[in-house]
Amino acid sequence: MDSLVAHSPPLSESRPRSFYAILASTPGGGIGALDAIGAPMIPWRCKRDMKNFKDTTSISTGDDCENAVIVGPKTYMSFPLNMRPLPGRINVVVASRPGFDPGNKDVTVVSSLNGALEILYKNPKVGKIFVCGGAELYNEAFVHPDLSVVYHTVMHTVPSSKCDTFVDLSLLQKRFGAAGLYYHGDIQEESGVKFSFDVWGVD
Ligand SMILES: NC(=O)c1ccc[n+]([C@@H]2O[C@H](COP(=O)([O-])OP(=O)(O)OC[C@H]3O[C@@H](n4cnc5c(N)ncnc54)[C@H](OP(=O)(O)O)[C@@H]3O)[C@@H](O)[C@H]2O)c1
Repeated sequence: MDSLVAHSPPLSESRPRSFYAILASTPGGGIGALDAIGAPMIPWRCKRDMKNFKDTTSISTGDDCENAVIVGPKTYMSFPLNMRPLPGRINVVVASRPGFDPGNKDVTVVSSLNGALEILYKNPKVGKIFVCGGAELYNEAFVHPDLSVVYHTVMHTVPSSKCDTFVDLSLLQKRFGAAGLYYHGDIQEESGVKFSFDVWGVD
């Protein structure tokens, strides 16, 4: 599969003020951990999920538009130096406290998710908008009225004990209801890790 975009509910024109969330988690909602030197990281390695993230967030709706990613400060700083800001996408960092320096003038820093959305909604050159973590931003996104679709990679065989950062997955069930799992991908395996691509959304 090239991208989960093919498995998304139709939207956009009827809902111009909407955004997406994309995450990978353990079944218990674990999304992150600290590495050996105390830097935030994702506690599994899955090239197919990384490709899915890149493809899903990069494929835009029009030639003259770029998609946008909204991330928290720790998530932004966890990207490798040569991928910071994420190329081909408008990068916005939501830093709840003042003073965050992304080290790049092309990156917009705002203090709230709604502040990020307001700026992006006003920009006609912005295609799709993706909330890409971390935990607080995801949890806020999951209950936000403008959220339309959630791309969720489930890392079935990664134990939550490997994680120190968690999202509240029960919010997805509450938000989209029992029928809200729009697409449930087949179980795949890479380097001993079983995972599937799920899409939450409603028609
Ligand atoms: N699996 C996935 O799909 C996925 C996606 C994204 C991230 N992750 C992982 O999740 C973890 C990061 O998530 P997170 O929820 O901890 O963090 P985050 O949402 O990226 O960032 C929030 C953190 O930024 C801090 N912060 C706020 N304003 C700041 C400022 N001006 N300067 C510096 N820091 C500031 C906050 O500290 P205060 O609370 O003190 O204000 C808070 O700890 C990493 O391990 C990352 O790899 C996983």
